[in-house]
Amino acid sequence: MIYLKTDEEIELIRENNILVSRTLAEVARHIQPGVSTAELDRIAEAFIRDHGAVPACKGYEGYPAATCISVNEQVVHGIPSSKCILKEGDIVSVDLCTFMKGFVGDSAYTFAVGEVADEVKQLMAVTKEALYRGTAQAKAGNRVGDISAAVQEYVESFGYGVVRELEGHGLGHKMHEDPGVPNYGARGRGPLLKEGMVICIEPMITLGNKSVVFERDGWTVRTRDRKPAAHYEFAVAVRKGGPDVLTDYSIIEEALN
Ligand code: MF3
Ligand code: CO
Repeated sequence: MIYLKTDEEIELIRENNILVSRTLAEVARHIQPGVSTAELDRIAEAFIRDHGAVPACKGYEGYPAATCISVNEQVVHGIPSSKCILKEGDIVSVDLCTFMKGFVGDSAYTFAVGEVADEVKQLMAVTKEALYRGTAQAKAGNRVGDISAAVQEYVESFGYGVVRELEGHGLGHKMHEDPGVPNYGARGRGPLLKEGMVICIEPMITLGNKSVVFERDGWTVRTRDRKPAAHYEFAVAVRKGGPDVLTDYSIIEEALN
């Protein structure tokens, strides 16, 4: 069941995603060699609560933290840990969700820790560009497959892998609503996009083979070949005139400069 949102509801989802963006910026300011992912999680949780929201991930199907922090070969859903200490050259994907005023916000960003290898920098840049290309297709009258194909075609032209086991999703009162938004597929296929739909578009892209493994902690997804992966996520409202992006990466990227 796909729920269409009113303008008022979209503004509340936007409020959540602006807070998610600000929280990601706060985390970004603390990313450096020597910091643990547990410390980054504490910073994020405090920031979210200080701004009148709760971390929607915490307790979601038993998930133990406020954020998912996935390092290098971890693709998504890495559990923050005091044993996981960032070092120069790592990449770290931070994915977090807020809940306030009855709605959820959900966005992600992949950060470099200091200087990273050129091939990994390119993986990050291509994954973010794939997100933008997918997002450009989020207009009323298109289909989910138009988003999926835009992401897949761009990413595969670089020889990267599109993870098949996980996908984007609708967003609203719940973190995961219909429709699913795969990062691979065919133009013109899948559910019709309508004015007022809110979806998360979230390419999860691998430098090597697309095959992933689900770790025994019940959450962490990593690449089978242990090569790095990147993950960026926007919440987007579908409009007649085109996408209305509810996440604000400029807040994050200002914090990086
Ligand atoms: N943004 C993530 C997703 O869409 C959030 C899930 S993490 C969880 O899958 F722990 F809350 F499940
Ligand atoms: Co999501």
